[in-house]
Amino acid sequence: MLSIVVLGTAAGGGVPQWNCGCANCRSARNGHPELKSTQASIAVSADREHWFLVNASPDLRQQITDNPILHPRAGALRHSPIAGVILTNGEVDAVAGLLSLREGTAFDLYAHSRVLTILDDNPIFNVLRPNLVPRRALQLDTTIDLPLPGGAPSGLTLEAFPVPGKVALFLEDESDTGEGDTLGLVIGDKASGQRLVFLAACAEVTPGIAEKLDGTDLVFFDGTLWRDNEMIEAGLGKKSGQRMGHIAMRDAIAALGDIDIGKRVFLHINNSNPALRADSPERRAAADAGWLVPADGMEIKL
Ligand code: MLT
Ligand code: MN
Ligand code: ZN
Repeated sequence: MLSIVVLGTAAGGGVPQWNCGCANCRSARNGHPELKSTQASIAVSADREHWFLVNASPDLRQQITDNPILHPRAGALRHSPIAGVILTNGEVDAVAGLLSLREGTAFDLYAHSRVLTILDDNPIFNVLRPNLVPRRALQLDTTIDLPLPGGAPSGLTLEAFPVPGKVALFLEDESDTGEGDTLGLVIGDKASGQRLVFLAACAEVTPGIAEKLDGTDLVFFDGTLWRDNEMIEAGLGKKSGQRMGHIAMRDAIAALGDIDIGKRVFLHINNSNPALRADSPERRAAADAGWLVPADGMEIKL
């Protein structure tokens, strides 16, 4: 069986974001703690003993503390159930948590070679010594059996595929976007045949992506913004969702409407998004279309 725990639901910055005075961030600080959320990541397991993280958010240390499935085994002096980390892009909100996984425990790190180059070019990531944390390049459109550190099978399979998106924000001035900067993932459980598709950054639902989604048990999909221009209209920024590599929720709901998908869950939800509020018309519209806006720590049962 595929076990999935949502460690964090928010886009870069989290809710509340340190420097933001928007309505959602103010509410999260004052009277609505249920709006507080950490930056997006999920944990996936076939046996509930060994877990693979999808992305390493800057909030990873807190997420590990808050989720007992990720605590060291009782009685072990040094141990972690984290068997691997799979990166889908090189943005700060996807990689900064790697720095919290230093201290000498082995796990495997998977990413596209373009993202591994970002890590290789930044010596601070050498705190993860390659003899303990091997960096494994993902080949596109290729399904692999995910091993545990040491080589035993984890029971999970992994396929990475390219998704319309863009190069990491901090590289925009020096590097063009290329294939592999943004990945979608198909993670499968060999025993049950269950599978999920992870697409927490996606600028457009192409026919190829629709095909990957067809028949999947669960999708985590880009929920950054409700409307493409929402940050501009709110005075929070100058960029549209499309400019940032994110399709708007309401467009995603329409684009995925006819695809055969078991469960639909939004992830990477920006603090500007009105659907964060449980009582908003936008949340109701998402729920009416069969979409879940999850909370941190939620287990998604298949
Ligand atoms: C994004 O998802 O667009 C990025 O996380 C932006 C950022 O790093 O602020
Ligand atoms: Mn992000
Ligand atoms: Zn805000």
